[in-house]
Amino acid sequence: MKTTISQVDKYVDQEVTIGCWIANKRSSGKIAFLQLRDGTGFLQGVVVKAEVGEELFQKAKSLTQETSLYVTGKVTVDERSPFGYELQVTGLEIIHEATDYPITPKAHGTEFLMDHRHLWLRSKRQHAVMKIRNEIIRATYEFFNENGFTKVDPPILTGSAPEGTTELFATKYFDEDAFLSQSGQLYMEAAAMALGKVFSFGPTFRAEKSKTRRHLIEFWMIEPEMAFVEFNENLEVQEQYVSYIVQSVLKNCQLELKTLDRDISKLEKIQAPFPRITYDDALAFLHEQGFDDIEWGDDFGSPHETAIAEHYEKPVFITHYPTSLKPFYMQPDPERPEVVLCADLIAPEGYGEIIGGSERIHDMEMLEKNIEKHGLDAAAYKWYTELRQYGSVPHSGFGLGLERTVAWISGVEHVRETIPFPRLLNRLYP
Ligand code: 4AD
Ligand code: MG
Repeated sequence: MKTTISQVDKYVDQEVTIGCWIANKRSSGKIAFLQLRDGTGFLQGVVVKAEVGEELFQKAKSLTQETSLYVTGKVTVDERSPFGYELQVTGLEIIHEATDYPITPKAHGTEFLMDHRHLWLRSKRQHAVMKIRNEIIRATYEFFNENGFTKVDPPILTGSAPEGTTELFATKYFDEDAFLSQSGQLYMEAAAMALGKVFSFGPTFRAEKSKTRRHLIEFWMIEPEMAFVEFNENLEVQEQYVSYIVQSVLKNCQLELKTLDRDISKLEKIQAPFPRITYDDALAFLHEQGFDDIEWGDDFGSPHETAIAEHYEKPVFITHYPTSLKPFYMQPDPERPEVVLCADLIAPEGYGEIIGGSERIHDMEMLEKNIEKHGLDAAAYKWYTELRQYGSVPHSGFGLGLERTVAWISGVEHVRETIPFPRLLNRLYP
């Protein structure tokens, strides 16, 4: 029976054939252990000389790393391995022999691995991270579909800049100037007025010269937007959503979390509600902690975010930032217009901001003034202000950065390992 590694539990004590690659191998004079991988998982194949005979045993011993082959054998239960099964090999049919595979089981430097990203993806660790990424995406669709959201796809080529004009990738759109989208939000606001509750999931681009473990040039964002939803209700959706994806990964990616040595007890605590702290209180806390260099009106950097997050076991919302720090579309607090009705969600364990969100301005005049104040071209935003002209309603939304979320849940240090082909400062290859 031809099957895959993920399905072997259905064939205990039966003979199966699996198309796979040799991930690793060790052998003695009498027995060879083949670490097989087929994309669906990793499985140990055991070749016993006394059972398969000299010829097949020598063939097994000579297999090189990443050689592709069909392996036939009997599935047995193996309680010692985390996977739970083994294959007692009876036949090997080589498809293509690999020679001098560059990524050997010894340790390699980061730049070398990044240069070989197209091959590095085959490793057990990278496989686990990609599976967790996929589970987060799957759970995202499930959560929003079950909660009455409609998926809407905003354009990638745009003429507007939701998050400020300094980090845009400019390109030509025939004779016009265009930008790669840095956020689909403005379009999602239009969609929310048509469909009520919407979400997007797509690539976004930031020409940001930041070289940190949290920054990518191209990253994927989930952007929900909701009509008739005000500031606090927006936070409730966020904490429900983030709890849902963490619990889904815990439920469906146990093996992957084990491969990554993730401390699961930390993830088990991620349940709504999440703590909330205002910018003002966060600032007072930072001063108490000895951060004397930061004043009211300054943005928080990574060390500040980490110091605040260390205080909590769950993600924490920092709310009501100074208006001057945030984009033009955020709703000022009616009682205190020097701050906006916004929140950043800071992940635990030093992973930083995973969500930025806010209530949006729904008063046309106020929005037009802000566009002017921020030095933006009113003509390019005419359609956006027009949303406030016809039955304007309070509405709110947020953006979750997928890669930072994958890094946090996987316990992986750097976002470069959380996207198949990272686009980083000075890296467009492979
Ligand atoms: O805080 P940001 O810039 O917010 C927006 O773009 C809003 N328009 C979203 C919305 O309200 N619809 O980005 C949102 C999130 C951040 O919290 C972070 O997780 C991620 O996107 N992010 C990045 N991830 C990786 N690399 C970068 N350079 C990122 N910039 C932002
Ligand atoms: Mg932000």
